[in-house]
Amino acid sequence: MDADGHVPWWRDAVIYQIYPRSFQDTGGDGVGDLPGIERRLDHLAWLGVDAIWVSPFYRSPMADFGYDVSDYCDVDPLFGTLADFDRLIASVHQRGMRLLVDWVPNHTSDRHPWFLDSRSSRSSPRRGWYHWRDGRGDGPPNNWRAAFGGRAWTLDELTGQWYLHLFLPQQPDLNWSNPEVVAAMHEVLRFWLDRGVDGFRIDVVHCIGKDPAFPDQPAELGEIDRVGIQNEPATHELIRGFRRLVDAYPGQRTTVGEVQLGDLEALASFYGAGDELHMVFNFLPLRAAWTRPAWWGMIERVERDLPAGAWPTWVLSNHDEPRVRSRLGSDAAARSAALLLLTLRGTPFIYQGDELGLEDAVVPESRRVDPGGRDGCRAPMPWDRGPGHGWPVRDPWLPWPPQAGTRNVEAERDDPGSMLHLYRRLLAARRGSAALRRGDLVLREGAGDVLAFERNCEGDRRLVVVNFGNRSSSIRLEPGWVVEVSTGPEGDPERLPPHGGALLRPG
Ligand code: NOJ
Repeated sequence: MDADGHVPWWRDAVIYQIYPRSFQDTGGDGVGDLPGIERRLDHLAWLGVDAIWVSPFYRSPMADFGYDVSDYCDVDPLFGTLADFDRLIASVHQRGMRLLVDWVPNHTSDRHPWFLDSRSSRSSPRRGWYHWRDGRGDGPPNNWRAAFGGRAWTLDELTGQWYLHLFLPQQPDLNWSNPEVVAAMHEVLRFWLDRGVDGFRIDVVHCIGKDPAFPDQPAELGEIDRVGIQNEPATHELIRGFRRLVDAYPGQRTTVGEVQLGDLEALASFYGAGDELHMVFNFLPLRAAWTRPAWWGMIERVERDLPAGAWPTWVLSNHDEPRVRSRLGSDAAARSAALLLLTLRGTPFIYQGDELGLEDAVVPESRRVDPGGRDGCRAPMPWDRGPGHGWPVRDPWLPWPPQAGTRNVEAERDDPGSMLHLYRRLLAARRGSAALRRGDLVLREGAGDVLAFERNCEGDRRLVVVNFGNRSSSIRLEPGWVVEVSTGPEGDPERLPPHGGALLRPG
């Protein structure tokens, strides 16, 4: 809540992630683009999402498909132009929705002019914008490992020093202890805020602070890559700087940070004392087994370990992970996962295509392109039943997900029993219930495979029940509850089918 007692929009919102390469192509090159997003906004409004987060569309050599930025303040020609972006944001706002962009502060592309300059000589004025170090003997400055494999340092022959990259060698890490870097990156935030964006998804924000001594990581951590470990106190003051900048703009701009640290205590620290990130992604469901104890434990921990004021988030899929439908292995379980996503306490993030129940594409070796092996979840969105599924080409940059002939927007809009309609019903139920958006959450003790929790907000109440078992389960409901949304065909609310679930309201 803000000082006036208002709930900021992002707490009430459902945020939909768009991976622009795979959303909708209009140019005919088989890669999605900004005009494609604009073209499909009516669909997103029909679905009922409140905001979109668009993964990077900036100028980039695409070594990491846009997470290697060579110009933070321009649109890559593959995706369109700044004028396309301005049209997109105006269209989003016209529909009463909001738009978050992705900001990648930890590293630039190795083609970014800042890095080209930094690398050009040891005396370059931008030498200190990146982490340059002498090696130890013939080897790198320390034992850190990079995400996607290999060491986190590359020797640059020209100047005989090593530069740090927690990801690919094409993604050198910026040196955030340098005030010039801070100032330059603040300018980037202002550039997009001035263009009207409603906030930022901040890429691996926990990585930006570095210990200037660059100590070896202890042997017991083995070959584990640095991204899952990097957690320097200096990062927090940098984040407070982002927060001050963002909060100075009118209109409740927001931030959601990607923090790839496993434990909740570490995540919680990135909310600060209400002066760091507005939200931090909660990736626990990505690794949770589909069992009642696993989900019970996870929900309990989120409720217990996030301090008051640290607003939770829930994520089932994104562009880095196998899709929820693929992980869980059945439509029934994926439907109940959607029920949980949209009824737990906190802001839910929907990854494009999960609302269709898409599975990861099977990508033949000859078509694999991602250095991190994440092509499957990045397959293009099928919009209709036709051979090109609403794209101007039949064969986009990645193959279609399985069953695109039936799992597409057109077919699922025609079928009231589809996953798409389930998402739409859940979104509508959430919008209509203060309990679901803002209420507290109480887990209900119970036996067997059924997880139940209640949400309450000033007299508004909802009950959620999910059967994690392979068999039907009976539950005993107090009189008066009626089904508002059921994950399957509506039946006896006291008899849940395998992996079935329901949202109930007082009758
Ligand atoms: C996290 C992003 O989600 C991922 O796609 C990217 O590869 C890394 N950060 C590096 O930017």
